[in-house]
Amino acid sequence: MSTSTPQKVALRGDLLDFTASPAWGDLEGGGAVRFQPDHWLLIDERGRIQGTQAQEPDQQWHRIDHQGSLILPGFIDTHVHCPQLDVIASYGAELLDWLNTYTFPAECRYADPAVAQAGAARFLDALLAHGTTAAVVFPTVHKVSVEALFEAAQQRGMRLITGKVLMDRHAPAALLDPSVAQAERDCVDLISRWHGVDRLSYAVTPRFAPTSTPEQLAMAGALCRADASLYMQTHVAENREELRWVSELFPQARSYLDVYAREGLLHPRSVLAHGIWLDDEDRRVLAASGAQVAFSPSSNLFLGSGLFDWPAARVGQVQVSVASDVGGGTSLSMQRTLLDGYKVQAMAGQRLTAWAGLHAATRGAAEALGLGAEIGHFGVGTLADVCVWDWARGPVAEARDAVVRGLHERVFAWMSLADDRNLRAAYVAGVCKHSA
Ligand code: GUN
Ligand code: ZN
Repeated sequence: MSTSTPQKVALRGDLLDFTASPAWGDLEGGGAVRFQPDHWLLIDERGRIQGTQAQEPDQQWHRIDHQGSLILPGFIDTHVHCPQLDVIASYGAELLDWLNTYTFPAECRYADPAVAQAGAARFLDALLAHGTTAAVVFPTVHKVSVEALFEAAQQRGMRLITGKVLMDRHAPAALLDPSVAQAERDCVDLISRWHGVDRLSYAVTPRFAPTSTPEQLAMAGALCRADASLYMQTHVAENREELRWVSELFPQARSYLDVYAREGLLHPRSVLAHGIWLDDEDRRVLAASGAQVAFSPSSNLFLGSGLFDWPAARVGQVQVSVASDVGGGTSLSMQRTLLDGYKVQAMAGQRLTAWAGLHAATRGAAEALGLGAEIGHFGVGTLADVCVWDWARGPVAEARDAVVRGLHERVFAWMSLADDRNLRAAYVAGVCKHSA
């Protein structure tokens, strides 16, 4: 399935990507949507996009004919937990109970290198099988879980951002860093070995405010200040009980977000999952910092956390990407995630267009991560992380697809009805890494 000999590859299909951010609610796409039906996507020997064209390329190209399929940039999942595949779809608990009952026990097992390696391989193959070619990932507190993820991503040539989870209180002893100094040494070692290697980047990863002492958060902030190329990932303002707890633990902070702001953890490479219970001042701080919120609708519904106010984030000029947050979320499929996102917005009387949703899961996420020159669209010179999808699978979707009027209606029905069963092939830097 995976051919690694460098060759020029041309993929034929209906090409869809974005040249800019579509306006909220605009079904026309306002010039931001680039749809090239029945075109060829040209990928050079280095796995980079060389261009697109309507006419069939000549014999120098290895031509792969997916006529009648939809070809999109690979999805980017900006917040997902590798070890939590083992607890996906766990019944009946809100965030804090769910962590203690299901998640922390599952994460303890990742201290074992064999578990971590098998888990990382299974996880990345599952991402690719869902059309996700790049991700910002939580492993566990264990160094081996980070190494296993980086190694597995490197083998697959994937763009991956991850880092050792930092926790030094309020969790089982097996998941706690022994000291701030040891955690810092672990981070520094992992950064020196993995950050900037191939398509891998390190993210300083305090799990969330309640599981780090102020001293550990300060250390995490110092790491970020020492190297502006590092990412930072954490959770914020997800659940009301969590919010109450944070205000008790950090009485001096103005808000939950302020706990991170005070430590220098908010910057253009920061990814904060959830952000449901933010206020206007938080949004102002986020926008000024350039940090992004990873909207995780499947998880927010499943754990009963709340409804993220995307329009308020937009008005406040906060960058928003979309994330599965598996295992709080119940599917790695970004289409399922976007459909949940549509429903969350509908509950607030808002409408998420397919354009706004798909942009956030491709080019929007890439740009928010500072990776707009590498992934997320079909611009010349970007790496060809590309997925080929069936427009419809099964009689219901096929019948729906047969009667669509107009492009938005077709793509919206696809976003709503498609999932991993629609995936025909996933290419990473021009190399096929998954095929149906
Ligand atoms: N907050 C702290 N840890 C987690 C986690 O693993 N999942 C979610 N959804 N929220 C968290
Ligand atoms: Zn999460």
